[in-house]
Amino acid sequence: MGFNILKFIEVKRDGGEHSRSDIEGFVNGLMDGSVKDYQAAAWLMGAFIRGLTMSEMSYLTTALANSGDVFKLPANGFSVDKHSTGGVGDKVTLVLVPLVASLGIPVAKLSGRGLGFTGGTVDKLESIPGMNMHLSIEDFKTQVAQIGCAVSGHSLQLAPAEGKLYHLRDVTSTVPSMGLIATSIVSKKIAGGADGFVFDVKWGRGALMETYDGAVALGRLLVDLSSSLGHPSRAVLTSMEQPLGDWVGNAAEVREALEVLMGEGPSSTREVSLLLAREMVLLARRASSPDEALDMCRRALDGGSALERFAMMVERQGGDPRVTDPSTWDRLLPLAPERAVVIAEEDGFMAGIDTRAIGEALRTLGGGRIRKEDPIDHGVAIKVHCSVGQPVSRGDVLLEILGRTKGAAEEAAATLGGSLVISKEPVDSIPLVGEILYPLERVAKS
Ligand code: URA
Repeated sequence: MGFNILKFIEVKRDGGEHSRSDIEGFVNGLMDGSVKDYQAAAWLMGAFIRGLTMSEMSYLTTALANSGDVFKLPANGFSVDKHSTGGVGDKVTLVLVPLVASLGIPVAKLSGRGLGFTGGTVDKLESIPGMNMHLSIEDFKTQVAQIGCAVSGHSLQLAPAEGKLYHLRDVTSTVPSMGLIATSIVSKKIAGGADGFVFDVKWGRGALMETYDGAVALGRLLVDLSSSLGHPSRAVLTSMEQPLGDWVGNAAEVREALEVLMGEGPSSTREVSLLLAREMVLLARRASSPDEALDMCRRALDGGSALERFAMMVERQGGDPRVTDPSTWDRLLPLAPERAVVIAEEDGFMAGIDTRAIGEALRTLGGGRIRKEDPIDHGVAIKVHCSVGQPVSRGDVLLEILGRTKGAAEEAAATLGGSLVISKEPVDSIPLVGEILYPLERVAKS
């Protein structure tokens, strides 16, 4: 008998488990239009409430990944991809891609635009004049084969059924389901063609998962699901209790990433980039110990080979490679001209930074979008001068806002004043990274 959507919805409604062929029937129906949006929405709510078993997740992930093109990268070594669950000031991809590629590990990175309060790599790299972030599939593959790395926006042809489901989840309040999030992320990674994945799973006020335990649960699922489908992977937990590094904003984040590629820059951005790069090197089996892998990554940053690879990638994608020279930044990566500040009104210790509010303020300044098609202002930015736990004195600058007009910068400063909490009592600093999750070892039966 053929696929029956009503039976399919009933099975999930009543807490049953789907077979592989039923899930394939559902995804085929999404693609050919025989499954209507209202039916898919009803099933999504069932899946949200009842959950998905590991088998259902792996059938769904495979069916979604196979619903469009699946990139086949040229076989020039084990390729790795990194995926971040999204954050504020997260410019790690810009450092990681050339760094890992400079160590001879191919990196094929498909990235998104920012949406909501989090930024996106495509928008950040488009701050560089001329940069083409929409490579054709052929150009993407050739570039990875020839210079070892490429970063491009998602092609519409990748996992299109996932795109349909994601849109329906967005408008039916069914996004925050662990099983649906994991299948959504892993299906796109598989369609992207890399052999192994490193997931940067963020926790905190500026993250998809607000609690540490929630982030661990998602990381565990991402790693187990990917590994069970033949893609070795690991998840690194990193904090979004405060923005990463000093700067939030497109051109400003490219500048900060370039500083890190020069062996300088804020230690937090450098540390997270090095840790994720280390895990990518280990996943690709290019080092025999974490220390050896970290050493290789440090040398690539401090010796200039990662920066050189960044320049090659920029040039290859139509951008101006002189951007790697800081003396060009005012011309090639200009920042918005008007400045306002948030200052400490009392002595004490930084007790809380509302990361999400900072991301939202950047969006209001024009650095992000409300609708997908909105244009963005690459030059607006927010510099974060404080971190949780740090002592502050009355009058210290805590945030610096660069806006297109004085009024916009001052309005952002007024709003953000309420997003910082100062305590009279000392406050512990927040760890930057948490645990690293590996696939569960299979226990051999005796
Ligand atoms: N990011 C994704 O790609 N999918 C989700 O479901 C949530 C975050």
